[in-house]
Amino acid sequence: MSNIVLIGPMGSGKSTVGAALARRLGRPHVDSDHFFVARYGSIPEYFRAHGEKDFREREHRIIAELLDSPRPSVISLGGGAVLDERTRALLKDQTVVMLDITPDQAALRIGDGTSRPVLGDEPMEAWTRIYAERETIYRACADMVLSADDESIETRADTIVARL
Ligand code: S3P
Repeated sequence: MSNIVLIGPMGSGKSTVGAALARRLGRPHVDSDHFFVARYGSIPEYFRAHGEKDFREREHRIIAELLDSPRPSVISLGGGAVLDERTRALLKDQTVVMLDITPDQAALRIGDGTSRPVLGDEPMEAWTRIYAERETIYRACADMVLSADDESIETRADTIVARL
């Protein structure tokens, strides 16, 4: 049985929906960003000290470890994880769900963007540009795309279960 992997733009609810989905399925939930923080400390600080390239390398290694877990899990990935082609290759054997949101919803959810170093000083401008760069990649990786701006976390998790 494959893992269920949640991908999508920053603010799309990958962590919260992932946790709700895991509860429904009785599977463990893991989050690549949480794992990164537990191992290496704060992501903004890591970016400042080591840069994005190094972050992506470590992010890929963490994801490879998480996907290799003996127990099928629900795994939420950081929004930029799909940029790594080795990660994309690993996702081919998993059930991949893209959570999609509009810029209006993203604006409500990402706030001032300080916890996300790729967003810089103009978070919504950056979010929109990054979304445009990544949308095709997300869709190409996904077995299921869930576009549900106004649904609650619980409803989104129910919808995924119904479509598995
Ligand atoms: C990033 C998204 C973040 C985190 C890091 C980089 C990105 O995760 O991995 O700040 O490049 O999109 P979320 O998608 O959970 O915010």
